[in-house]
Amino acid sequence: MTQRVAADEALRVILLGPPGAGKGTQARRVADVYGIPHIATGDIFRSHVRNGTELGQKAEEYMSAGELVPDEVVIAMVRDRLQEEDAATGFVLDGFPRTVPQAQALEGILADLGQPLDCVLRFSIDEEEVVRRITGRRACQDCGRNYHVDFDPPPQGDTCSCGGKAVQRKDDTEDVVRNRLDVYHRQTEPLEFFYWQRGLLRDVDAVGSVEDVTKRALGVLAEYVAPSEARP
Ligand code: AP5
Repeated sequence: MTQRVAADEALRVILLGPPGAGKGTQARRVADVYGIPHIATGDIFRSHVRNGTELGQKAEEYMSAGELVPDEVVIAMVRDRLQEEDAATGFVLDGFPRTVPQAQALEGILADLGQPLDCVLRFSIDEEEVVRRITGRRACQDCGRNYHVDFDPPPQGDTCSCGGKAVQRKDDTEDVVRNRLDVYHRQTEPLEFFYWQRGLLRDVDAVGSVEDVTKRALGVLAEYVAPSEARP
């Protein structure tokens, strides 16, 4: 699927939406098509938790309760990540920003780097579908690939295509998901207005097959930067 864009044609996009909207699934596909990094704060935290780092220990308590990790911790982590070389030609941000202070900090970071944001894709989906998607999700412990027990089961029982074990995330139980949704409404939804005011917000209907949602997302993104092979 990879179609790299020319180096001067950076795409910088944020995927916004409730837990389980399919941000991670779609972010991987968009990143692959454009040949840019997929930067997912949840994945970075989970890797720190797995490796038992100090940051992982700090984040784990918030994550397993479905609460947000404090802004200053997340902002410092993203600032470092965006300064890495591979992010110079664009990125797909998944799970960040999640609060207004995080969005304001991101504006400052990108201004310092001289990298304007192209757009923010807001994935819309109803809550019962979110609960169905999340409680059925299984994530590979080794490569992080997500499956769903009904819609996209691992190829062999609970074994990922990479050979790792696909397990349920600790924060994917129904109780924790309902709290994550509540946190989303209170702390993250205000970002819709924040980005709408800046003319950056675009809607993507997140219901339907993974392929259909990808087509919708890529259709919007092509208005900003076309993958090179798609250009006439
Ligand atoms: P994070 O990992 O970012 O979780 P999230 O935003 O809650 O999002 P999810 O990963 O649950 O869902 P998704 O939208 O990516 O859906 P997915 O593609 O997997 O964050 C986890 C925690 O880390 C937070 O609670 C917080 O504690 C902390 N954290 C992270 N970032 C932070 C920040 N910026 N500030 C503070 N704290 C932060 O899909 C879900 C399932 O549905 C999968 O099983 C998938 O296979 C399936 N699926 C996907 N698309 C479809 C489809 N079209 N049809 C059917 N099934 C589908």
